[in-house]
Amino acid sequence: MTETSALQQAFVACSTLLTQYRQYWQLVPFACQQLPWQNPVLEQKILSLSEQDLSAIDQSLVLQQQHFGELFAGLFALNDYVAEANSGLSARGLKKVPFWLANGIGGRKLEQIDAFARQLPPSARPMLEWCAGKGHLGRLLAWQFQRPVTSIEWQQQLCVDGSALAAQFDIPQHFVHADVLTAAGSAILAPQQQVLALHACGQLHIQLLQQAVAIGSEELHLVPCCYHLIPDEHYLPLSKLARQHDVALSQHDLKLAVQGQVTAGARVEKLRYTEVQWRLAYQALRAELSGDSHYRPLSSVAKHWFSGDFADFCRWAAAQHQLSLPAAPDWQFYLNKGAEHAALVRRIELVRHLFRRPLELWLVLDRALYLEQHGYQVRLAAFCDYQVTPRNLLIQASLKATTQPSLAS
Ligand SMILES: C[S@@+](CC[C@H](N)C(=O)[O-])C[C@H]1O[C@@H](n2cnc3c(N)ncnc32)[C@H](O)[C@@H]1O
Repeated sequence: MTETSALQQAFVACSTLLTQYRQYWQLVPFACQQLPWQNPVLEQKILSLSEQDLSAIDQSLVLQQQHFGELFAGLFALNDYVAEANSGLSARGLKKVPFWLANGIGGRKLEQIDAFARQLPPSARPMLEWCAGKGHLGRLLAWQFQRPVTSIEWQQQLCVDGSALAAQFDIPQHFVHADVLTAAGSAILAPQQQVLALHACGQLHIQLLQQAVAIGSEELHLVPCCYHLIPDEHYLPLSKLARQHDVALSQHDLKLAVQGQVTAGARVEKLRYTEVQWRLAYQALRAELSGDSHYRPLSSVAKHWFSGDFADFCRWAAAQHQLSLPAAPDWQFYLNKGAEHAALVRRIELVRHLFRRPLELWLVLDRALYLEQHGYQVRLAAFCDYQVTPRNLLIQASLKATTQPSLAS
């Protein structure tokens, strides 16, 4: 019998928990007209919370645990896995980045790059930056470690801007303008590289994992994000273990994993609140006009819509659903309905959000296990504080000496 790795154990714990509590997270809150679970204790608790309580709890792991720890046994123990993995982390001492080199990089991005760099082991391999944007990460690392970097990016203007910055500071950074989802894009990968991907979205990092495994990349450091940006409606697990313990994730479910919000300002908070109310108010209007009370989603829109006029928003939404509106609906009536429904939805979401970190952990562990299965030594840890970026899980993998490149499966 083969020995179970720590990653496998964590994954099975995660899967068991998500399956056990499936009814609390695998649902569409907007489609619920009442609390969707039969749980009187939870119902009483959730209905007694004020709006202020809701947003405070939603943003604090400590408060979530205080309020819901007893109701969902095992849920918060999963966080100990990341905490334990982190206890082995030691941040590498680095030179302070001079202001002229960091110019133009946002404060949080700079903190992320700094924290990411401190987790990289010494390596003599040339660096490859996957989905680089303007290549801020690559530029700073090439300066820091005095090693060349190739940065691959799909948007030509970002390549042009990034190349200009590198040239200005005489940094050995070379941009490749290519689509990583094509054979030409992936051809840039070579076994003896230190591959770096900070916040590469869904399919972009899945492609990286599959290609890296196929060619036998020796060293990989990946921070995934936007798990829902995949071409299929449903998620196909990467690792064998996840295929055995699949929790059947739709794109809607996958979005839950990235709903963690770093505390937003009051204005953004208010816009979010209005958006939910207006969408639900429109839903009530549509249900009444069409006689169909099933929830029908609307596409996302720029946030500025929600500082405008509700009637304009309804006209836009009705056009999307090919619905004609009466000349003068009682807008206030529907806004009141929307506000009432929004209060319910926020309570359902509060409970659903308890599962966003376990779900993200499930997804990241699937990626880590995929690498482990293909002969990599893998480490998973939070590389920076959650407030610096909620997408703070870093996968680090090095190919064991005995492993041959394999056809990705
Ligand atoms: C979330 S950004 C991350 C950028 C950078 N790594 C960072 O951390 O700031 C993702 C980047 O991937 C690029 N991208 C999207 N699709 C791509 C593709 N098919 N091939 C290469 N790059 C792509 C985008 O243009 C964008 O610059």
